[in-house]
Amino acid sequence: MSYSGDKTTVLTNDGAVNLQVSLPPMTDYAEYVASLEQKVNRTLGIEKFIVEQSELLTVLNGEPSRQLRRLVKIDARRASGAFFTDSQLRDRALEHIGRTIDARSIILDPACGAGDLLIAASNYLPVCNNNLADTLDLWGTVLNGYDIHPEFIRTTKARLVLAAVKRMKSSHYIVDSIDPRCLFSNIQVRDSLDGHSFHCKPTHIVVNPPYSSIDAAADCKWGGGKVSVAGVFLDVCLRSAKDDTVVCAILPDVLRSGSRYKKWREQVESSAKISAVDIVGQFDIWTDVDVFVLHLQVDSTNARGSRSAWGQPETKEDNCVDDLFEVCVGAVIPHRHAHTGPWRRYICARQLSGLTEYDTDTAKSRRFQGRVFRPPFVVVRRTTRPSDCARVFGTVITGEQPVAVENHLIVLSPKDGTHETCARLIDVVQNPKATTWLNQRIRCRHYTVLALRELPWCE
Ligand SMILES: C[S@@+](CC[C@H](N)C(=O)[O-])C[C@H]1O[C@@H](n2cnc3c(N)ncnc32)[C@H](O)[C@@H]1O
Repeated sequence: MSYSGDKTTVLTNDGAVNLQVSLPPMTDYAEYVASLEQKVNRTLGIEKFIVEQSELLTVLNGEPSRQLRRLVKIDARRASGAFFTDSQLRDRALEHIGRTIDARSIILDPACGAGDLLIAASNYLPVCNNNLADTLDLWGTVLNGYDIHPEFIRTTKARLVLAAVKRMKSSHYIVDSIDPRCLFSNIQVRDSLDGHSFHCKPTHIVVNPPYSSIDAAADCKWGGGKVSVAGVFLDVCLRSAKDDTVVCAILPDVLRSGSRYKKWREQVESSAKISAVDIVGQFDIWTDVDVFVLHLQVDSTNARGSRSAWGQPETKEDNCVDDLFEVCVGAVIPHRHAHTGPWRRYICARQLSGLTEYDTDTAKSRRFQGRVFRPPFVVVRRTTRPSDCARVFGTVITGEQPVAVENHLIVLSPKDGTHETCARLIDVVQNPKATTWLNQRIRCRHYTVLALRELPWCE
C-alpha cells in the first residue's frame, strides 16, 4: 500500500469519493465484475433468470480470487494487499462467533475485498420466508463493508445477492420491488485508514486487512519506521469500536509472535479481551504468509493478558537455551561491509548446508573489523519454514581462530566454552519437541534470537 499523499478520486454510484491512497489499476478485473453484475441484474429482473446451483457455488467459493490472480498482476495485488480469504478459512474464522450473530447485529468488514468474510457472516443471518427482497433488505441493514477498490465493493454486493439467492428454498422466491442500485448501501468505497470514524457502530468487526508495510504515524505508540498495515488496521478498529464489540481478525503471524510487535500486543490487550487465538499456518497455497485468527471482545477497562493468551508457550526461565548459551546474530553483512580490518576465518549459511560439524581451520578467510566468535560454538540459520521437518538445523563450529559469521546465521556460544555443551544443543534442537514448541512460539520464516533463547532445554 503506498500512502503517497496523492488523492485518488473514485466515481461510484453514490458520487465521487476522495481517497488518500493511490490505486493500482483493476481494468481487466472490472470486466469480470461487470459480467457478474449482469447475472445478478437478470436474476433480480422480470425474467428471473435462474443461476445454476453449481454456478452459485463457484462464484461464492473462490472465483473472484481466481479471477483476480488471473487478471491483475501480483505487484498491483501487493500494492493494495488484495488477497481474498478462501472459503475454508473464512468459515473457520466465523464459526467461532457465529452464535453471537443475529438479525440485530451490525457487522462491519473495513477491508472487505470481494466480501468473503461478509458472505461467511451471512450464513448466520435469517432469511425471510422465501422472500428475496425482504431478505436482502434485512441483510443490507446488518452487513457493512469498506474497500478502496470500487470493483471489489461491486463484487461484494453481487456475491451477497447470490448468497441470499442460494439460501432461498425454491426457485419461486419473491423478488418484487428490488432496485439493484439501492442494495447494500452500507457497503461503500472508503479508506478505513483516513482518520475518520466508521459510519456505523458495529457489534461485530470481521477483518482480513492488507499485510503490507507502511510508515508508522508520528503518534504511533507501539512501533516506529515501517510497520505492518494489519497492525495499524486492528489498532484503528479497536479505537473506533465501542465496548463489547466482537472482533474476528485474520492476521499475519508476525503480529502474534514477533518481538517487535510486543508493544502492539500490549496495546491490544489493554483495550480488549482475547477470547481465542487460532494458529492457522500458511494463508493459502498461493500466498506464503503464515496467519492466525484473533478473536477479541472490546473492553476498554481490560488489564494486561498473558503470553499464553496469544497461543505462545509459557517458558520456564530456569530451563532454556538462554541458561547455557549467549545467543546473537552473526555480524557480517556481505553486501554492506567493506573488506577491511584483520584477516578472519569466515563462515556463511551456504557453505554449512547439511553439516552437523564444521572445522574453520580449513575455511576461507576475509578481512573484517567487526565482532568475531571464538570456537567452539553452534550456528543455526535464521530462516526456516514452519513446514520443515526440523525448524532448527544446527552446526557445531570448531577451530583455533576467532571466526567472522554472516548475518544469516544465529550464533550460540556455550557459556562453559565446551564442545560437549554444543553437541548437547544439537540434540536439543533436533528433538521433535523443539519443532513443536517453535511452531507454536513463532510461525514466521525468520525466527528470532529471543525465540531461540527461550527454547526449553529438552534432552
Ligand atoms: C487481504 S484483502 C482481504 C479482503 C477480504 N476481507 C477477504 O478476507 O477476502 C485486504 C483488502 O483490503 C483492501 N484495502 C487496502 N487498504 C485499504 C484501506 N485503507 N481501506 C479499506 N480497504 C483497504 C484491499 O483492497 C483488499 O481488498
